[in-house]
Amino acid sequence: MFNILFAAAEVEPYAKTGGLADVAGALPKALKALGHDVRVVMPRYWGVDRERYKLTLMEGALGVEMGIMGTQWAGVYEGRMGEVPVYFIEHEGYFGRKGLYDEGGFSYIDNDNRFIFFAKAVMQLAKKLRFHPHVVHANDWHTATLPILLNTTYAFDSDFAHAGAMLTIHNMQHQGKFYEGAMNVLDVGWSHFNADELEEFGGINWLKGGIVHADVITTVSPKYAREIQTSEYGWGLEGLLQRYSYKLHGILNGVDYTQWNPAVDKHIATPYDIDTLEAKAASKKALQEEFGLSVRADVPLIGMVGRLAHQKGIELLAQSLHGLLHMEVQIVVLGAGETWAEHFLSDVAARFGDKFRCYIGYRDDLAHRIEAGSDMFLMPSLFEPCGLNQIYSLRYGTLPIVRATGGLDDTVENYNPATGEGNGFKFWDASWQALTGTVAWAIDTYVNHPDHFTAMQKRAMAARFDWHKAALEYTALYERIVAHRHHT
Ligand code: ADP
Ligand code: GLC
Repeated sequence: MFNILFAAAEVEPYAKTGGLADVAGALPKALKALGHDVRVVMPRYWGVDRERYKLTLMEGALGVEMGIMGTQWAGVYEGRMGEVPVYFIEHEGYFGRKGLYDEGGFSYIDNDNRFIFFAKAVMQLAKKLRFHPHVVHANDWHTATLPILLNTTYAFDSDFAHAGAMLTIHNMQHQGKFYEGAMNVLDVGWSHFNADELEEFGGINWLKGGIVHADVITTVSPKYAREIQTSEYGWGLEGLLQRYSYKLHGILNGVDYTQWNPAVDKHIATPYDIDTLEAKAASKKALQEEFGLSVRADVPLIGMVGRLAHQKGIELLAQSLHGLLHMEVQIVVLGAGETWAEHFLSDVAARFGDKFRCYIGYRDDLAHRIEAGSDMFLMPSLFEPCGLNQIYSLRYGTLPIVRATGGLDDTVENYNPATGEGNGFKFWDASWQALTGTVAWAIDTYVNHPDHFTAMQKRAMAARFDWHKAALEYTALYERIVAHRHHT
């Protein structure tokens, strides 16, 4: 078993803006259960409550060499996530802020310095703990400098003599592109600022550097691993990913079924499971009441939860919404994000409140009640590396209606009206017509083929996407990294 140094910019339950936090909160526990010694490291943002999570201050500060900015100092708090130790890098100037990456829609202008500081502090922490990792596991652009640091600054450091790097890409859209001057802070030598490593169009691209330097790259579904090697999904790095495809793998995310399970969900009043599926009706009624919709069991209710971002297909939703509301249907949306979308949805809710309601903001409890109370769940994403909400939906017997992309395609099986097979409804075209037609198809199935619909719900609820399986797949790749480093 291995020593795994796992770094992420967000970890559930401490700080979360999206699925990265769900993964960073669950995968380390599953790895620990397999016998690995896993240490998780994240920044101590202002919002991470030291008392609530019983964090203790470690003695001494970490000196972090920030190139031309000189030495800066990090404090370290220690906490626990079940059996897994979690370390929080503290720096008031960099992380004592309300947002993780941005505030009021604007990215912090020093995100390069903030996350260079974080990555270097992660390396220094391992030294201080005398924790000799076999694998430094980085996630997304925020920590994509770790594989680079391992191969440069720390290449001859005996504390990392056995260490290789894994980079998990949760989203290709965000790459960490910065002004070239950040090279002077990263301070790994300007020789690495070239088109085959860190340089891109005159600036630095961290994800690019991470891809080049990592021993193994993973992404969060097999389909997305293939998609990102094409121009439609590669965001400019498709050529690079083709070149490194021999070390690129897709591993589907799991779900934390202690959190997302209608039989034990603390956010819903009436639990239910496969054998008591009738009891799901109570959650639907409660959700209709909570949102002020008319309480009707016969009208299909479609839920949606997620960031209101381009990725999630919000333009398609906006284009089709009025048409959808001509059907016999109720729709509820929980989300926050792009301002235009927040205004648009609020406006539709004000005018069509008997059929459409939204909650603009971030509310975990409500997300659970929408999963439980809806008949169907809509995810019309333009791209989706894995997607978690459709997997939660399956467990709640809430049939997903999805665009067949990335993890959505890998986890949802399309309904076959001839045989009744499937566990959801899919469309391929990124168009409002395809979205509208597929929602109409789902509604028709709900109304006219209730036998098929119920059978699909039960099939969906029986499916499992557990972290144990994913952890075994990660372990197989860790073994490769260790073997690879051993021979070089
Ligand atoms: P992404 O990481 O691209 O945002 P995922 O489907 O992987 O998409 O994960 C999103 C996670 O964030 C899910 O756990 C989802 O429930 C949660 N989430 C997103 N927006 C909200 C919101 N407005 N309120 C509550 N939970 C949200
Ligand atoms: C990203 C992706 C999402 C994925 C999540 C966790 O935020 O957008 O599809 O589920 O990371 O891997």
